[in-house]
Amino acid sequence: MNKPTNINDYTSVVEADKAHIWHHLSQHKKFETVDPLMIIEGKGLRVWNQAGREHLDAVSGGVWTVNVGYGRETIADAVRDQLVKMNFFGGTTGSIPGATFAEMLIDKMPGMSRVYYSNSGSEANEKAYKFVRQIAHQKYGGKKHKILYRERDYHGTTITALSSGGQDERRDLYGPYTPGFIPVPHCLEYRSQWGDVDDYGIRAASAIEEVILREGADTVGGLILEPVTAGGGVIVPPQGYWDRVQEICKKYDVLLIIDEVVCGMGRTGTWFGYQQYGVKPDIVTMAKGVASGYAAISCTVTTEEVFNEFKSNADEPLNYFRDISTFGGCTAGPAAAIENMRILEDENLLENTTKMGEYMLEQLEVLKGKHQLIGDVRGKGLFLGAELVTDRDTKEPVPESVAQAVVADCMKENAVIIGATNRSLKGFNNTLCFSPALIASKSDIDEIIHAVDGALTRVVGA
Ligand SMILES: Cc1ncc(COP(=O)(O)O)c(C=O)c1O
Repeated sequence: MNKPTNINDYTSVVEADKAHIWHHLSQHKKFETVDPLMIIEGKGLRVWNQAGREHLDAVSGGVWTVNVGYGRETIADAVRDQLVKMNFFGGTTGSIPGATFAEMLIDKMPGMSRVYYSNSGSEANEKAYKFVRQIAHQKYGGKKHKILYRERDYHGTTITALSSGGQDERRDLYGPYTPGFIPVPHCLEYRSQWGDVDDYGIRAASAIEEVILREGADTVGGLILEPVTAGGGVIVPPQGYWDRVQEICKKYDVLLIIDEVVCGMGRTGTWFGYQQYGVKPDIVTMAKGVASGYAAISCTVTTEEVFNEFKSNADEPLNYFRDISTFGGCTAGPAAAIENMRILEDENLLENTTKMGEYMLEQLEVLKGKHQLIGDVRGKGLFLGAELVTDRDTKEPVPESVAQAVVADCMKENAVIIGATNRSLKGFNNTLCFSPALIASKSDIDEIIHAVDGALTRVVGA
């Protein structure tokens, strides 16, 4: 791909950044000696930094977001056209793109019915928690208010979203937390908590039932799970897990919330990750890929049954959902989301994701055959991980610095941007993460694999 022609001298903006920007997830001491990376331009899977260097982005904007790739003029045009016509009105009213996208979305989600707009994954999950809590108050005198979450899963950055976060290093130093959120065991078979068991998936799901019984089924109103855990180490649920989870939710009248913030909009090869496993959720949340980062948008989607809990008792003055998200009324989000979905369909990107995901998983297996440092590879669609260990028999995780050295080497030697679990799980920040845009081709994947192959060789040799 050609270098953009308008790469200029960005010295002054880099200085402005260093003087005034507080970067996310960053310890800033390092910027006293090195410049922050600034991404100036993007096209397809490629991005250019402030020095004009081209990179292959294997993580869709760093955080699993830009599903349809960079530089999509039709999305920009759709957003522009909408903004000059009507940019915003509070969400108590309707909008053309809001209603249109909701209808398109529900069409992809059989069994689901209503869409509540807000602006981030964290916020979408907060709405889901408020649904559970309000239903608990309306139907169960407030008792059935507890919400279960899973170790290693992440649901966002606000204090209550972090209260449901299964990653200790993300939580440390921000407590005390919102009460009523209870952890259940993770489902990473590679690190089975029960040794070498048959039917690990059923065992791990049954552990949820044990927590419900311990807490009291009459106190548990919701369970939130990622379909495939993202930042907690790319954990693909084991065989049998989801069927058992559904049985348990039904048995104890627990609302099942699926967090599709990462998996949603095709990342795993189906519109939503839960659709890989035949799950019938009560509430689904989504954000990142909904508009591929062209505008901020998140959705909390419910069944008509859940919605009716907030509608049917109209005589009670407080029994509707008394919540508002100012920027949930922005029309840029749904306008971008409509075009984003059209691109996913017209370019057959779900099919491409499945095909390329299988190819990439095969290539990661080849790397595993070659590099002792890789203990496990896993993934679904273009959402993959490679867990690094110092010893395959003991499965001792490599220190975080080793995973970060591999990431840094890919960047330095081959200008390939990959990710790794970072400062999330004490002792387990050892999984490399790959999530290229869903337009990725075989040759893009070969380029990523080549970079990782070289990096693993150099880092081990270092
Ligand atoms: C699974 C999952 N849920 C929720 C969130 C929070 O989304 P946001 O950063 O938009 O608040 C994230 C962010 O990475 C995520 O990975």
